Amino acid sequence: MSFQLSFHVLTLFPEMIHQACGHSILKRATDASIINIDCINIRDFAINKHGQVDDYPYGGGAGMVMMAPPIYDAFVNIGKPNAHFIYMSPQGKPFSQAKASELSQKKDIIILCGHYEGVDQRVLDILSPEEISIGDYVLTGGELAALVVIDAVARLVPGVVGKSESINNESFSGTLEGMLEHPQYTRPPIFNDIKVPDILLSGHHKNIEEWRKNKAFERTKAIRPDLLI
Ligand code: ADE
Repeated sequence: MSFQLSFHVLTLFPEMIHQACGHSILKRATDASIINIDCINIRDFAINKHGQVDDYPYGGGAGMVMMAPPIYDAFVNIGKPNAHFIYMSPQGKPFSQAKASELSQKKDIIILCGHYEGVDQRVLDILSPEEISIGDYVLTGGELAALVVIDAVARLVPGVVGKSESINNESFSGTLEGMLEHPQYTRPPIFNDIKVPDILLSGHHKNIEEWRKNKAFERTKAIRPDLLI
């Protein structure tokens, strides 16, 4: 079976990835073989029968460092030396919609999830992954960050999101590129005495479009003025 995009996740906690991807749109996309998400347990490549994958940092300091050999062997075992290789790390370049769009064009993406105090620098020097951060905060491990990347990338792969669940008119892309999304309403028409704005019930598509653009602009100006510069 030829998938449009395969994610290969190097992790110590494969269940976190499998669990999170087993629902909703990602599940539908993997069931339909549009994308593939497989996990490689780094512990399967441990250096000894105790399953050791980490050790104390040279030079001292708190915490443990993930060892190079298990990560290197797990990477090689995937058998995709030309895959795009990513390491999730708070030291990485910030993730963005533009990066998601670029990654959605790839055929194979390998994602390394770090834990503890990080991974031995030598494995990064040898395999030179692209380091990506999902924000300026520190998570307990790279799995949640990898899931953010997988989700944002997968939904841009053709066929993953249905036509009725449009991805063309949303924040950061499409006609409202660079702006936050306008507010949305659905039934009932009155909730807690608050009416849906009349214009949305008018059937006047041009005016609705104009109203939405204005609302998107107002919201962006109030919450994320940095996006308008
Ligand atoms: N691992 C720990 N924190 C992270 C972050 N902010 N982004 C990506 N990977 C991480």
